[in-house]
Amino acid sequence: MSRTGRHFLQIPGPSPVPERVMRAMDRPVIDHRGPEFGALGREVLAGCRSVFQTEGPVVIYPSSGTGAWEATIVNTLSSGDRVLMFETGHFATLWRQMAARWGIEVEFVPGDWRRGVDPEIVEATLAEDRARGIKAVMVVHNETSTGVTSRVAEIRRAIDRANHPALLLVDTISSLGSADFRHDAWGVDVTVSGSQKGLMLPPGLGFTAISEKARAASRSNNLPRSYWDWEEMLKPNAGGYFPYKPATNLLYGLREAVAMLLEEGLPEVFARHQRLAAATRAAVQGWGLEVLCQEPSEYSPVLTAVLLPEGHDADAFRRIVLDDLDMSLGAGLSKLAGRVFRIGHLGECNALTLMGALSGVEMGLGAAGVPHQRGGVLAAMSSLRAGDGR
Ligand SMILES: Cc1ncc(COP(=O)(O)O)c(C=O)c1O
Repeated sequence: MSRTGRHFLQIPGPSPVPERVMRAMDRPVIDHRGPEFGALGREVLAGCRSVFQTEGPVVIYPSSGTGAWEATIVNTLSSGDRVLMFETGHFATLWRQMAARWGIEVEFVPGDWRRGVDPEIVEATLAEDRARGIKAVMVVHNETSTGVTSRVAEIRRAIDRANHPALLLVDTISSLGSADFRHDAWGVDVTVSGSQKGLMLPPGLGFTAISEKARAASRSNNLPRSYWDWEEMLKPNAGGYFPYKPATNLLYGLREAVAMLLEEGLPEVFARHQRLAAATRAAVQGWGLEVLCQEPSEYSPVLTAVLLPEGHDADAFRRIVLDDLDMSLGAGLSKLAGRVFRIGHLGECNALTLMGALSGVEMGLGAAGVPHQRGGVLAAMSSLRAGDGR
């Protein structure tokens, strides 16, 4: 079918790339060892520090987020190390599998994919670990598969209350630049991220922000690494350069995206995401459907996962929305396949983009014969007018 207008990319990442960022990337590739590149490199590395809210180094890899996961493991841990992780959803499960492949012993606290990490379990587990054998607590800040966030600042306080030296390693691949996150203030040791969500870029950049404690750990851990090695990166980074070919044009885009986030102001960016998320939940309630996340203090500002009534296939519904309305919604992943669909409301999304998306969902529910009440779109409009979630 021929299409007019823009495709509605309402998945929780990659998020739509703003015109400004696309124009910024539409430039000639430059010499990655020349002075113009050095200036660009220094500017984007400093810009990243503002977005991660850290004074320390941020490493930028030409990789997807998965690469930055691996970089975090190989730079900080040793084979045979124990770590504490939580089954918050699909991505926590994948990170756990990766750690296991590196010979890490993962204590994986089971979960029902409807709640985030329980800081009390963190505290109790670490307090019991008198031999201090647990080397890291590894947490996914925003579980993109479920629309549930974990309370990272509270997890930090739990680790401190247990007086435990474990590193705190946090995946912010789908939260950085959308949900409030503070690397330094929250005492995070490694923050992992990616370019294609709150940073509003195409996929292709992976990030790790590194605390002094994490850097010290990298000097004595024993996992082999080469491409991911922090020290190899940090040496040339001091001048704005990279040890191998940087993703030059994505870095032009990154410079622009960081400028956009800082112009709007990080607190305003986070508040906008909260408003859009609250309006989305109002719509879900208006339709008489169920939000997957069960803990209001852990609702994701980035995406909302919606459960379909028993006997209704979320993938069939998504297919109708794509075919009829040219809108992509996120699929349910692994355990949740066919059970949920996910609405992304991140990045350059604004009130009217969201209203378009929610109208599409309401029309799609009707077309797919999913039992629902009308009025979700109206409820979302009321929520936005009232400024709910501010
Ligand atoms: C929370 C989270 N972690 C990790 C990943 C993996 O990142 P990538 O697909 O960029 O390798 C994703 C991707 O969606 C994610 O949302």
